[in-house]
Amino acid sequence: MSVTEQTAQSLVDLGADAALVEKLYAELGELFDGELAQAASAEQVRALRDRWLGRKQGLLTATNDSWLKTAPRDLKPAVGRLQNKLKARVEEIVEQRGRAAAAAVVRAEPGIDITLPGPERVIGARHPVRIVREEIEHIFRGLGYSVFDGPEIESDYYNFEALNFPDNHPARDAMDTIFLTKTMLLRTHTSPCQIRAMEKTRPPLRYVVFGKCYRHDAPDATHSPMFHQFEAFAVDENISFCDLKGTLEHFTRQFFGASVRARFRPSFFPFTEPSAEVDISCIFCDGRGCRKCKQSGYIEILGSGMIDPALYGYVNYDPERYSGFAFGCGLERLAILKYGVEDIQLFFQGDARFLRQFR
Ligand code: DAH
Repeated sequence: MSVTEQTAQSLVDLGADAALVEKLYAELGELFDGELAQAASAEQVRALRDRWLGRKQGLLTATNDSWLKTAPRDLKPAVGRLQNKLKARVEEIVEQRGRAAAAAVVRAEPGIDITLPGPERVIGARHPVRIVREEIEHIFRGLGYSVFDGPEIESDYYNFEALNFPDNHPARDAMDTIFLTKTMLLRTHTSPCQIRAMEKTRPPLRYVVFGKCYRHDAPDATHSPMFHQFEAFAVDENISFCDLKGTLEHFTRQFFGASVRARFRPSFFPFTEPSAEVDISCIFCDGRGCRKCKQSGYIEILGSGMIDPALYGYVNYDPERYSGFAFGCGLERLAILKYGVEDIQLFFQGDARFLRQFR
């Protein structure tokens, strides 16, 4: 009779004495060790546990019931000691093996090395044009401006006519307009938003606008058929050229740094009168003259002026009562200057190595 079969017999039936009890438990211990040596997988360890410790069929449950409970009085202490000792050993080993086997499953999973660092999640960066836009928005919000928005597909009326570009005027050609139909086009600048904003609100108003603009230009280091502009304008009673100058000086210093000086040159735009182009002292040589500023010490950054009273006729503002200023500027141009970028195309190629530098 094998020792497993003997676990179902009572010690009395087995005719056991102290020596046989020792022998029976020793055989059981050896049997367990043998089975343990065969149990490698987590599943095999679970089966081993059930076979030995299972509540109904477990071998040690059987010895508990058939050997210990009915043991003759003189054998009982020895049986109890041996039963507990073997049970404790089996429990401890099974639990230990179970944990090791579970860990081995994770390690053995093909292609998974749990000691390797996890995959890197590439974190995106704000686009430099976006960074510049947010900085400008912050500066103008600080001056009490609100953000206004308008469509990229625009009508001839808003892009030109209401901005005082006469029909067949050469200033229209200079814009290299991309027409969609005879009267609809891709806006060439953000200035149409001046008209749209004035149509919607009464003075006093202060707005800043950001957006994409389009021109029929061949792409090169300084031209792109799509680019971004921002436009700022204010209309109220008693707004003068001094307000324009002060606002622009504040803006250029905030944006480029306190040592930057602004210079105003007379210019022409159909929608401003008088008009001025604004230069800043060269940020590369501090005005001493270098290759970037073509030795002039200044770099042109934007167009500006007092809103031409002719525009007020299109939006029913009283030109006797109200006056205002406006200026508009390319965002890529500002980013190029601020970050020393050599080629405007870099902004649109989506090369993460370039874009990540501006985080
Ligand atoms: N819209 C002009 C352009 O795209 C820039 C400009 C000039 C905007 C003068 C203005 C302004 O608001 O007053 O070239």
